[in-house]
Amino acid sequence: MPVTKNEARAARPRRYRLLGAGRKGDDVDPFLQFLQQVREIVEANEGRTARLVYRIAELLDTLINDHHLDFASSAEPGCRFGELLYEDPRTGFAVVLLSWGAESSTAIHEHTTWDVFGILSGRLCIRNYTRDAGTEPVLVAEFEARPGDVTYLVPPDQAIHQIANPARDLALSLHVYESNLERTYGDQPEG
Ligand SMILES: [Fe+2]
Repeated sequence: MPVTKNEARAARPRRYRLLGAGRKGDDVDPFLQFLQQVREIVEANEGRTARLVYRIAELLDTLINDHHLDFASSAEPGCRFGELLYEDPRTGFAVVLLSWGAESSTAIHEHTTWDVFGILSGRLCIRNYTRDAGTEPVLVAEFEARPGDVTYLVPPDQAIHQIANPARDLALSLHVYESNLERTYGDQPEG
């Protein structure tokens, strides 16, 4: 079932705008179209997490690289801050804009739900970990993500990570979560 504009507005006021006319040939709101497509993928791939995540990663790549969207952050300088842009009333997925203040970082944390995210501005240092038979998390990969890059977490095997903004400039990332983290993890999710 399509995501209607009323559903999008009811979930949360939009905090982005199109720059200029958007991509040539855009005849629909690309963010609304993105929400629609994510909903269809989630509904069609229940129980197939890896497939679902890869398809959403492709969509997010297109959204942030092919369209001229400007997501405005409400974050204070220096804060790590999340803003819920949309929560799907049918399937529960959530789209969140995360702002990473200068030299901010999460703790090493584990997700029980999938997360697909792309970098909008700045750069983020991402460290992925594994857990070896209940011991402390072991670092398996570390990389720097730049604007336009898309990555993801797929529980249970690829779901421990840490994200940091090592620079003095604000960084922004756009996340599609399986569910609203505030509902899943409590009031102060790591992101
Ligand atoms: Fe996280």
